[in-house]
Amino acid sequence: MNQSACLKNYSEDSDSSAFHQAKIPPTVTPETLLELAATHGTPLFVIDHQELRKNYATFQKYLPRVQAYYAIKANPDPAIVQTLFNAGASFDVSSIAEFQLVHALLQDLSPEEQQDWIWNKVIYAHPIKATETLTTLNQYKPLVTFDNREEIDKIKKYAPDAGLVLRLRVSNAGAMVELSSKFGADPAEAVALIMEAEQQGLTVEGLSFHVGSQTTNFENYVQAIDLAALIFKQVRAQGYSKMNLLDIGGGFPAPYDASVQPFSELAKRINAELERLIPKDVQIIAEPGRFLVATAAIAVSKIIGKAIRHGKLCYYINDGVYHTFSGIIFDHCQYHLEAFKDGPSEICTVFGPTCDGLDVITMTDELPSNLECDDLLYSRNIGAYSGATSTYFNGFPPATVVHVNR
Ligand SMILES: Cc1ncc(COP(=O)(O)O)c(C=O)c1O
Repeated sequence: MNQSACLKNYSEDSDSSAFHQAKIPPTVTPETLLELAATHGTPLFVIDHQELRKNYATFQKYLPRVQAYYAIKANPDPAIVQTLFNAGASFDVSSIAEFQLVHALLQDLSPEEQQDWIWNKVIYAHPIKATETLTTLNQYKPLVTFDNREEIDKIKKYAPDAGLVLRLRVSNAGAMVELSSKFGADPAEAVALIMEAEQQGLTVEGLSFHVGSQTTNFENYVQAIDLAALIFKQVRAQGYSKMNLLDIGGGFPAPYDASVQPFSELAKRINAELERLIPKDVQIIAEPGRFLVATAAIAVSKIIGKAIRHGKLCYYINDGVYHTFSGIIFDHCQYHLEAFKDGPSEICTVFGPTCDGLDVITMTDELPSNLECDDLLYSRNIGAYSGATSTYFNGFPPATVVHVNR
């Protein structure tokens, strides 16, 4: 049976649980994916800009007091940065290359306007910065995060015009990606660090934290806001009145599966805590990455081989963990593969195209057993931390990127 014939069933049988059709962004139908694959070949990485705009609008709707700074590391595709820029986003950058992606969008502005824009809408959110990075950034008087004394000395020497934001270590319990062992000041040292920076003639403008990426444990946000509120109080009680910014970081979970509670529920908890504890004169920002981009991309790959190994059906496809599926390794994320064709299904192993035994996409997905070479598969919700770490390992090129609904 050819794929479009199967697709007809697919469309007619929209409730079929085998295909999860309702979860595909309505703007990118399976028909669209097949057409794009026919035009551009595979592997393909389809970015839906309508979904990006929708996610940004959702974020701002449910967290009206919070300005979203898109964390570019989640997906640095320049077209994504452009779409979120057009939608009104600010940006979290964590390298000079990411900073330049934003800077490139400001070319029509005068140098003074560029500086003003960067000052108002960019945070350099990596607490550890190379000295040459600080030197490059200093002319823009950026906001930069820090979490230790050594970094204060570096900032004083190489970026004395920067505004500082102290990153706190907070609980990352239950997050898919843990960050608290690598970054964040011990809360007990927070006031001393702020005073140390002040003594060196620097200005600490606020506090930040990151509760861990894909945090489904909403209590992390509640505890972190409570902690930040306490430190605001302590610092103000010491007569330091220059702190007027709270950065609640990233971590907002993408709806990878039904176990993830709706964003509106998380927003309710955050809003209540901000309302209760954070003074009105404090500006609130956040650094969402995954939440904005995860659902905005779909990967389409092609079956290039089929074998039975140890009694189990194995498919080999032309994309893998060295490419679009790199998030399996680096992001601890599991993406599900789905077929365009119908048929009796069984639990399969799906391998990527390289010679490396590590190149395994899934050992547990249920797929039709009647798929053949050249049939296509797709994987939804693959926009975050996926192609961002793609390589040319073994000579296999990364997927072609196609933009829809731009
Ligand atoms: C400093 C910082 N901000 C924001 C993010 C984005 O996090 P998420 O994609 O979980 O929203 C990260 C991710 O590692 C980060 O390290």
